Amino acid sequence: MTTELSLANVQGDILVGFSKKVELFYFFQIDNADAFRAQLTNLVPLISPADKTIGEKAEIRKKKEEHRQNVDVGYGTVIKPVHFPVVGVNIAFSATGLQKLQFIDNPKLNDVIFDNGMKQDAKELGDNNANPGADFKPDWDPAFLQDIHGVVLIAGDSFDTTSKKLADVKASLSTNSVSSIIEVATLAGDVRPGENSGHEHFGYLDGISQPAIDGVDEKILPGQAKINQGVVLLGRKGDTGNSPPWALDGSILAFRKLPQKVPEFEKFLLESAKSSNIDIPDGANGADILGARLVGRWKSGAPVRLAPLADDPELGKDEQRNNKFKFSSNSQRSCPFAAHVRKMNPRGDLDAEIINERLILRRGIPFGPEVTSEEKITNKTQNERGLYFVSYQSNLANGFSFLQKSWANNEKFPVEKPFLSGFDPIIGQKVDQSPPREMIGANGDNVSSPMKLEAQWVNSKGGEYFFSPSIPTLKNVIAK
Ligand code: HEM
Repeated sequence: MTTELSLANVQGDILVGFSKKVELFYFFQIDNADAFRAQLTNLVPLISPADKTIGEKAEIRKKKEEHRQNVDVGYGTVIKPVHFPVVGVNIAFSATGLQKLQFIDNPKLNDVIFDNGMKQDAKELGDNNANPGADFKPDWDPAFLQDIHGVVLIAGDSFDTTSKKLADVKASLSTNSVSSIIEVATLAGDVRPGENSGHEHFGYLDGISQPAIDGVDEKILPGQAKINQGVVLLGRKGDTGNSPPWALDGSILAFRKLPQKVPEFEKFLLESAKSSNIDIPDGANGADILGARLVGRWKSGAPVRLAPLADDPELGKDEQRNNKFKFSSNSQRSCPFAAHVRKMNPRGDLDAEIINERLILRRGIPFGPEVTSEEKITNKTQNERGLYFVSYQSNLANGFSFLQKSWANNEKFPVEKPFLSGFDPIIGQKVDQSPPREMIGANGDNVSSPMKLEAQWVNSKGGEYFFSPSIPTLKNVIAK
């Protein structure tokens, strides 16, 4: 009989999500498993459980509100953003990492996609082939082509706080200056500056629609789906897998490095809006409308289902209204079937029970600099930027891997519509990019016409699947 969920047992990024301006992802190999398992006892006190993360978030909200009230908000006064020191640490292991640790004979999760690792899944995910015409080898950064045994996530208010914490983590995993791990890569993400804070690099507000977890999230917003704990946590109600007892209250973390070609995307929007005569009502321009129809939301976050013709920033920031909609099942007049948010959460197209098993918790962060004037002028990316995508789910055949393969990359999804939908224009991938991807319905005035998407503006450069164990499992099963 499984006991009731305790938030003290679950790592904080999973159910709550860290407060963050920046995040470090420290990918490592385990050099000496025995030493690592002994040193893990030193690391466990640094790991932030969900109850602590909830407390810290509430504290920051309170301090920010106090700060706002202390500032004179008279006409013309700008409230300067303030940073309150906060830092959270989590750890997770890949399937090869769990094998290396050998804390039991055969430490498999019994999730085939996880147990095989992301490299095995790359072709089906539609990642580019680095060997065109020959055996598939994903076109990934060298770091992700190596074995990665684990990742430490450190999120917080600044690079200063997070780098200091990383030094503490490394110190906890070494004895007499001899470390049990070897660094594979450290990646750093940061929230975009100023008014773009919270927006991903194409410019759209992110992090709006997340499911609420039964028995965890007390406040449910209008339109927000409520899901069983087992959609995210292994061994809980709603987990359809067959995981071992030590996996209870852990979650599978999918990490993807997703560079975005921003100037190229913007050029495409301008040229395609012009060539397909996308209507230009007052106050909006064709490229903005086309971009919003590709994402399913305007840059402010306002859903095109509710604001089909022009952005509505008030709606975008109103959490009581910005997620309260369902798509109109057979119509793409207000939102194409293939729009990113419709592909990822086809509310109104499929029964809620089917969708709710496939919802994920997204915890990513942008990386890379802002677009420079030179990049704008030449319409060519010169500096890598994009999204470090992170999602949590109990099962990859329902979560990330399914969403990418069966919905984003599947031209026929959503099924039983009057037209083919085409690819998710934002993340849909095709190993062989020729002929280019297409979608239908990008033009609201001519919803049956296909649009060639020319190039992929998001091309994965690697990643891995990790298991983020419960704190009792870290302490009592893996550590020794
Ligand atoms: C929602 C952008 C990758 C799954 C969104 C939203 C934006 C966005 C702007 C709307 C805001 C929100 O509801 O939070 C991007 C970009 C990506 C990316 C630029 C790549 C660079 C992915 C991937 C997946 C994914 C790889 C999963 C395979 C989702 C889901 C939603 C969402 C589930 C919420 C849909 C809803 O409930 O309405 N994304 N995304 N995204 N995205 Fe992505």
